[in-house]
Amino acid sequence: MRIIGTGRAHPSKVVTNAMLEQFLDTSDEWIKERTGMSERKIITSEKLEDLATEASILAIKDAGIEPTDIDYIICSNVVNEYVTPGLSCIVQGKIGAKCACVDVNAACSGFIYALDMADDRIRSGKAKNILVLAAEEPTRMVDWSDRSTCVLFGDGAGAVVVTGGKGLIGSRLTTVSKTDCLYYVRKLEPTPYITKEENAGPMYMNGREVFKTAVLSSSFDIKRLLDKAGLKPTDIKYYLLHQANMRIIEAIANQLQLDMSYFPHNVDYCGNTSSASVALLLDELHRSGKLQNGDKLVMSAFGAGFTTGACIIEWNK
Ligand code: ACO
Repeated sequence: MRIIGTGRAHPSKVVTNAMLEQFLDTSDEWIKERTGMSERKIITSEKLEDLATEASILAIKDAGIEPTDIDYIICSNVVNEYVTPGLSCIVQGKIGAKCACVDVNAACSGFIYALDMADDRIRSGKAKNILVLAAEEPTRMVDWSDRSTCVLFGDGAGAVVVTGGKGLIGSRLTTVSKTDCLYYVRKLEPTPYITKEENAGPMYMNGREVFKTAVLSSSFDIKRLLDKAGLKPTDIKYYLLHQANMRIIEAIANQLQLDMSYFPHNVDYCGNTSSASVALLLDELHRSGKLQNGDKLVMSAFGAGFTTGACIIEWNK
C-alpha cells in the first residue's frame, strides 16, 4: 500500500502549562524540562467523532477521491463516548461512505497496527482504498488531580487514505503482555449475578517503567527494520515517533546515533495524543511541504499492552 492522502483535526481549546499551574502543584519549568511540553489541545464542547470526521474528510479530499470510493475503514481508538458501536461506524455515516468498518485498540501503537492491517487487506485484493484513522481523547482517561499523568495528554484525530502501490517497505508489530505498568479500567454495569470484586479508576501509569520500555523497544524495532530493509539510519528522511515525551524521542535518537533534525515533533504543542500522534505529525509534515516523493520515513509507536508497532514507508503520493 501507499499513502495518497492525509488529514488532521485538533480541539480548539489550548491548555498551557501556566493554566495547569492554577489548579495543580506543578510548574511550567517542571513540565517543559521533564516532557518537552508547553501546551496541549483538549476536547471541550467537541465530540471525538467530529474531529475524526473532519480529519477523514480532509484525507479523502487530499487523496482526490470521493467518500464512496472508500471500501474499508479502520479506526484506531482507545476510548470515546461509545463503547459500541465503533467510532469507525459513526465516521462512516458522517462522511457518507458505504463500506465495512472496524475499530482497533492497540493503545498508542494502534495507528501502525491499523496501517499494517490495511496493507494486508490491499495485498489480498479485498480492498482498493482504505481510510485509516486514529482518533483519541486520552484526557478523558486520567485523573485531573494527578499531576503525574494529567499534564501529559492532549486530544486529536489524524487520518490517511491508502491504496495499492509502492509504499510500505517493512513493518514490525510486537506485544509483550505487561499489563501492570499502564492501564485504565472502566466500570461495567452491575447485574444481579456479579459476585466478584471489581475495581475501576483513572489511568495508572508507572512513568519510569514505561519510559525505559519505550526507548528500548522502539529503538530495537527500528534497528531491526532498517537491517532487514538493508538501510542505514541516515537513509531515512524523518523518524515519526510516538509523541509521548521529548526525552523519550531524544533517547531514541541517541540510540540510533542521529541528530534531532531527523525527528520532527509536535509533543511540545499537542501533548501525548496516544495513537493519533504519528498520524497528526505525518499530516503536518505533508501539508507544510516537507515530504518529497521517494523520501523514506520511519513511523514507530509504543503503548499499553505493552505493544509496539514500527514501519518504514516510502512517500509516493
Ligand atoms: N509537576 C511537578 N512535579 C511532578 C509532576 C508534575 N506534573 N509529575 C510528577 N512530579 C514529581 C513526582 O511526584 C516526583 O516527586 P518526588 O521525587 O518528590 O517523589 C518527581 O516529580 C519525579 O517524578 P518521576 O516520575 O520520577 O519523573 P520523571 O522524570 O520520570 O518524569 C514522566 C515523569 C514525565 C511521566 C516520565 O516518566 C515519562 O514521560 N514516562 C513515559 C510516559 C509515557 O510515555 N506515557 C505514555 C506512553 S503510552 C501512552 O501514550 C498512553
